[in-house]
Amino acid sequence: MLTEKQVVELLETIYDPFLKKTFKETGAIQEVKINEEKGLVSVKIALAKTGTAEQLQVQQTVVQRLKDAGASSVGLRFAQLPLEERSTNEPIYLAIASGKGGVGKSTVSVNLAVSLARLGKKVGLIDADIYGFSVPDMMGITERPIVRGEKIIPVERFGVKVISMGFFVEDNSPVIWRGPMLGKMLKNFFDEVEWGELDYLLLDLPPGTGDVALDVHTMLPTSKEIIVTTPHPTAAFVAARAGAMAVRTNHEVVGVIENMSYFESQTTGEREYIFGKGGGQKLAEELQTDLLGQLPLGQPDWNDDDFAPSVYGEDHPIGKVYMDIAKKIIAKLR
Ligand SMILES: Nc1ncnc2c1ncn2[C@@H]1O[C@H](COP(=O)(O)OP(=O)(O)OP(=O)(O)O)[C@@H](O)[C@H]1O
Ligand SMILES: [Mg+2]
Repeated sequence: MLTEKQVVELLETIYDPFLKKTFKETGAIQEVKINEEKGLVSVKIALAKTGTAEQLQVQQTVVQRLKDAGASSVGLRFAQLPLEERSTNEPIYLAIASGKGGVGKSTVSVNLAVSLARLGKKVGLIDADIYGFSVPDMMGITERPIVRGEKIIPVERFGVKVISMGFFVEDNSPVIWRGPMLGKMLKNFFDEVEWGELDYLLLDLPPGTGDVALDVHTMLPTSKEIIVTTPHPTAAFVAARAGAMAVRTNHEVVGVIENMSYFESQTTGEREYIFGKGGGQKLAEELQTDLLGQLPLGQPDWNDDDFAPSVYGEDHPIGKVYMDIAKKIIAKLR
């Protein structure tokens, strides 16, 4: 008959499906009882999430291993890991995508990152638009990252750690790499950069559903997606392709953000729906997700001392919408 120690050894190499850590690392095996007479082994296993399809898979693995090792029957109970154990130390990856260019992905990425930092989160931002990088300019970043040992230290601005291809290109010259280099560059942004501890790592994706977007999906199977669209119903139709790609590759769509939703007159307060209406809502329904917010047209207040042309102040009306969106995202992903 199996001993308790043997049971632990048999099971401790199984992975928690959500934390990607072994049962040994998470302390999942909470109880082992052995009834020699009946050949019954009872175990209690704590997982990051219970009641899931993945739990069923774990159940099969556990029962199989114990039976193969000689148990005639297996009693299995599941519990949830305590909150501290559940935290993965891995940031939540949030990819900002859209179906087409120029809808405001980069603006949204930058301001969402800044808003999350304003809410006390540790935030990183990868400008994954290798050819069309724009984040450094938008945030008014003039310095370059330094290299410490083997690692690149990201530049910090408004509490956000930033990395961009733009930091490694001389004189704004165009980037001409093709194919595999692209994926490699992106991989470097994860592996060679000293991010430290992060709560969120945002990725500003290039427009469309091309190579880089696909690379991100393969490289970060756990990344979640935010889709940016303009309010025109046909724009939502195009953006749905980006959403469809996320869904097809099993990436959760956290929500839709509608940008350039309307223009509000400063004198009369009247709203004009210059680019149409309803696109964000329509897309959210189509992707069965939430419309996280609608951003009006408007420029940040520029400040010569601390120039960041695309960053809205916390008290700016659009800055407030971003704060609301950031709060919704935090609440949703908790
Ligand atoms: N709500 C807004 N009000 C006014 N201008 C905006 C707004 N959102 C974005 N813009 C402007 O629209 C332009 C395109 O925005 P942005 O670069 O963020 O889009 P993008 O989707 O990242 O584009 P690309 O596909 O080229 O990467 C920029 O000049 C930006 O300043
Ligand atoms: Mg962009």
